Formats: sequence, structure tokens, C-alpha cells
Amino acid sequence: MSKIAPPPGVSDIFPDEAPAWLEIETAARKVFGLYGFGELRTPIFEFTEVFQRGLGGETEVVQKEMYTFEDRGGRSLTLRPEGTAGVMRALAATDAANGVEHRVFYMGPMFRGERPAAGRKRQFHQVGVENVGRAASPGLDAEAIAMLCHFLNEIGISDFELHINTRGVQSDRPAAEQALAEHFRPHLAEMCEDCRARIDRNVWRILDCKQACCRQFVETAPDPAQFFSAESRDYFKKVCDLLTEQGIKFTVDPRLVRGLDYYVHTVFELTHTGLGAQNAIAGGGRYELLLPELKKPIPGVGFAAGMERLLIARDSLGVKPPLPQVPKLYLASLGDAAQAFNTALAAKLRHADVSVAIDYDAKSMKSQMRAADRMKAEYVLVVGDTELEAKSAKLKRMADGQEIPVGLTLDGIISALNTDSAQS
Ligand code: HAM
Repeated sequence: MSKIAPPPGVSDIFPDEAPAWLEIETAARKVFGLYGFGELRTPIFEFTEVFQRGLGGETEVVQKEMYTFEDRGGRSLTLRPEGTAGVMRALAATDAANGVEHRVFYMGPMFRGERPAAGRKRQFHQVGVENVGRAASPGLDAEAIAMLCHFLNEIGISDFELHINTRGVQSDRPAAEQALAEHFRPHLAEMCEDCRARIDRNVWRILDCKQACCRQFVETAPDPAQFFSAESRDYFKKVCDLLTEQGIKFTVDPRLVRGLDYYVHTVFELTHTGLGAQNAIAGGGRYELLLPELKKPIPGVGFAAGMERLLIARDSLGVKPPLPQVPKLYLASLGDAAQAFNTALAAKLRHADVSVAIDYDAKSMKSQMRAADRMKAEYVLVVGDTELEAKSAKLKRMADGQEIPVGLTLDGIISALNTDSAQS
């Protein structure tokens, strides 16, 4: 395996790709800000227990996918596989634990040891939102979904599909679990090995199974919501009504359980056809998270969208990424005196917010012009002894080769650049 390539499932993001990332991150900050959310930056690793307790020991992520290691002090630490548990850990020390609402968003890398595939990475990036502390309310759930749709529209993705469902509350589940187990048990011999283990450990996970041998039985399974209390069903109906009132289209999918155990009531997932098998661009829901040292779980609702998948979806729609920044001006030098002059000029121009490229060990004019071309500089200013003596030079507009006479002063160059850029 090449030592130059990054490990499997991990990528570099080069300067020509970064502007598209920044554009999405900027849109996220703008939209989340409109709903009163502020940024919370949590650590990239946490005590392993935060995720074990937070996400649930039976989840695929905790059982198979976490990057867990022991530090030099013998503590078990884990690279965050998602953002919610860390956010809750941070907010647990605040009045969020006493029912006060906190609105936060986050963005950054997450780590899961999954099999790499298109749109499935081991280091991937999420932008996410959590509304934490306030007691469950259909209004907050619908607002989270509306905000996610708003954000996607803002970045040019409007043809997504929104699937929603209810997971009820803990007390709703035993009756539904019994019905599901009764439905699947006669077919276990035909089902995958994982589902055979899931039936007793966590029967809900079977509804998530993608194997063809299991899908046929998943499709005929009873809708768990029919076993939930009237309060839970009414809660979900209110969420659906609020979405409809806002003109948000959705499909109720009784099989949608989501992969993390902390969810209660509303869960949702957004898919996009521009992606292959990994077609979920975002997911979320209402949750109750129990963390180490807390006596009772803290309520919240939120979502996370996968940056890599948002980029694939935008690509598939032909949304053009922003152009990488190019130098406004390339300073070409002929001779030592010009090199010294240009070096000082470059510093002054940059402090005046003009992006400048320069070769400090300039050799031939040809190689400097080639460099200016490669960097796609908008203008080139050639300075040699003659120009220094005359205190004037020519600014070459690279798009069409037009030459503009310019005085060799900071103000002269800046005003020529501004005037010509405004005209062309
Ligand atoms: P999740 O569904 O596990 O939820 O992840 C959210 C999104 O992250 C997915 O829809 C997908 O776009 C992206 N994603 C997940 N795994 C990968 C991967 N291996 N490679 C690339 N992208 C990936 C959560 O993480 C919850 N914390 C969401 C949430 C917030 N629920 C409530 N609040």
C-alpha cells in the first residue's frame, strides 16, 4: 500500500476543491443563524463512554465502526463518529440539563470504520444542528426539518426526498417489539446472520437491513406505530400537519428507524437520486441522550448532513463550484533592482488587499510569463531597469493581451487595477 496516499476512506481536500466546501459551510452558517443557532466547536475525540452510552451499545456504529484507542494515561478515547453525543456532553454542564433551550450548530470531520465506497468515507464531514434542553414539542421537530430543507434549497439542492417516521417513546416499544419479533421469527432461517442475532438483541435493527433475503420480510412487517400510545401517534400527526402547512413534501416510511439508539418520536432522512447506494444526504430526529454521570436523559432534536454527499448531489445537478482564487496581479522582474522593487511592492499591495504572485528568484521572462499563465493571474506587471528609471510600466491584461500604462507607485497601480477591472 502506498505510503504517499492517505489511508483508505480518507481524502485530502485541495485548494481547487475547498471553495465548494466553503460555499456550503457559509450557506449553513447563514441559514442556521436565521433560526437563532450559534456555532459550538466540540473536541474531535471524547471519552469512549460518551458514545457508548450516548449512541447505545447495540448500534452498528458503536459495535463495529468506532476508532477507539487508549491514551498514554490509560484512558479509552474515541474519535467522534457523529456530533450529537459530543454536543450533549458539552451542554450537559449547562442549564440545558434543567430544561433551558440551547440552539447550536457544528461542522467538521467525523470518523467511522466503514467499508469505503462512493459517498462512504472513514473520515467524512458533517454540518449538523441540535436544539437541546427544551421538552419535546412537535413545533421544534418540524422547525428542524424545515431548516434542513431551507439549507438544502440554499445550496441548490431542491429535488431531495424527505422520509419521516415516528419511533414513539420507550414505553411504546415493548408491544411493537413483540409484534415485530413474532413477524420475523418464523422466517429466521431464511434471513441474514446479523438479523438472526438482532431479533433478540434489537429487533428494530432488522427494519434497517439492506440484504435482499431480509427485505422481503421487512416489507411485510407490521407498522410499529400502530402499537404506540395515542399521545405518541398524536405527536407525530402534529409534526406531519406542521410540515404540510409549510408546504414541505414528505413520505411517511414506517420502516425508517435510523441507525442510532437515542431517537424517540420523530425521525427523518433525506435522500437524493444523484448518489448511488449511499443516497442519504442527511438524517436526524428527536432524541433523549443519557450520558455518564447524568441521572436523566436530556431531550433534543437535530440533524446532520454529510458534506461529501452534498457535494456529490450538487455535482449531479450541475451546480458549478465557485472558481478558486487566482492572483489579481503577477509581478515579473527583470534584473536585481527590479526584483528588490517588486518584492517591496508585493508586500505593500498585499497589505492593501490585492492578491499578488511573485517569483523571488526570477530567472527568464519566459518562465515568469508561463508561471503567470499557469496561475491564471488576471494582470502582469513587468518591471525592469527601464521601467524603474521612467517610473512607469505597462499592466498587461491577460485575458486579451491589452496593455495599460501605469505609474510605478502603489496608488497608481491600485487605481489602474480598479479602473480596468470595473470596465472589463
Ligand atoms: P447519520 O445518519 O449517522 O446521523 O449521519 C448523518 C449524515 O452523515 C448521513 O445522512 C450521511 O450524509 C453522512 N454520513 C454518515 N456516515 C458517513 C460516511 N461513512 N461517509 C460519508 N458520509 C456519511 C448522525 O450522525 C446523527 N448524529 C444526526 C443527528 C443529529 N440526529 C440528531 N441530531
